Amino acid sequence: MDAMELLLTRSSGVKLTDPAPSDAEFEQILKAAVRAPDHGRLKPWRFLSIRGAGREKLGDLYVETALLASPHATPEALGRERDKALRAPLVVVVVARLSMLPNVKVPEVEQLLSAGAAAQNILLAAHALGYAAVWKTGDVAYNHHFKTGLGLAANEHIIGILFVGTRADAMGNKPGPDIAPFHSVWPA
Ligand SMILES: Cc1cc2nc3c(=O)[nH]c(=O)nc-3n(C[C@H](O)[C@H](O)[C@H](O)COP(=O)(O)O)c2cc1C
Repeated sequence: MDAMELLLTRSSGVKLTDPAPSDAEFEQILKAAVRAPDHGRLKPWRFLSIRGAGREKLGDLYVETALLASPHATPEALGRERDKALRAPLVVVVVARLSMLPNVKVPEVEQLLSAGAAAQNILLAAHALGYAAVWKTGDVAYNHHFKTGLGLAANEHIIGILFVGTRADAMGNKPGPDIAPFHSVWPA
């Protein structure tokens, strides 16, 4: 697949199954991630990869987080939370690590955007290698218990929980949006 075809055909994997990218493939994916544009060369990101039994622990964390918010949640609702961790064989938490250095003038929003670009590179690299992925967040991404459970520090933010695997849905070739509403020539 050439690069334009790659860009024009990426779409989220709604249903994802085994196999996940191998360790060697994932290394390639991470190398693509850290090619993201990065104002000030701050490298304002880190990535947590979660596979196998790690996903069970992630499921526990989803359940604990849900219980803290809704102590009377039903077993069915908690089961749905646990299942979120099992959406795909590989889960990649993309963390924006905001610089704490007093001399850093790069605005926080630009550091968050850089981490977002890294996340997008992960989606595209996965697609290039024949896998599919979906970028999720949900309430947990902004939840203190969930974040500390994953070991995040106060200056760190979850900007994406990426689920990566092999596409098991039939939505791979959906057309992209019409560009007309999003573009104008300036000055008119
Ligand atoms: C920062 C961010 C967070 C997102 N969080 C969620 C989410 O929690 N749940 C969800 O269903 N989609 C979420 N999405 C949207 C999906 O990743 C996806 O882009 C959307 O469903 C459109 O599908 P497509 O990527 O195939 O065009 C998020 C997207 C971004 C950029």
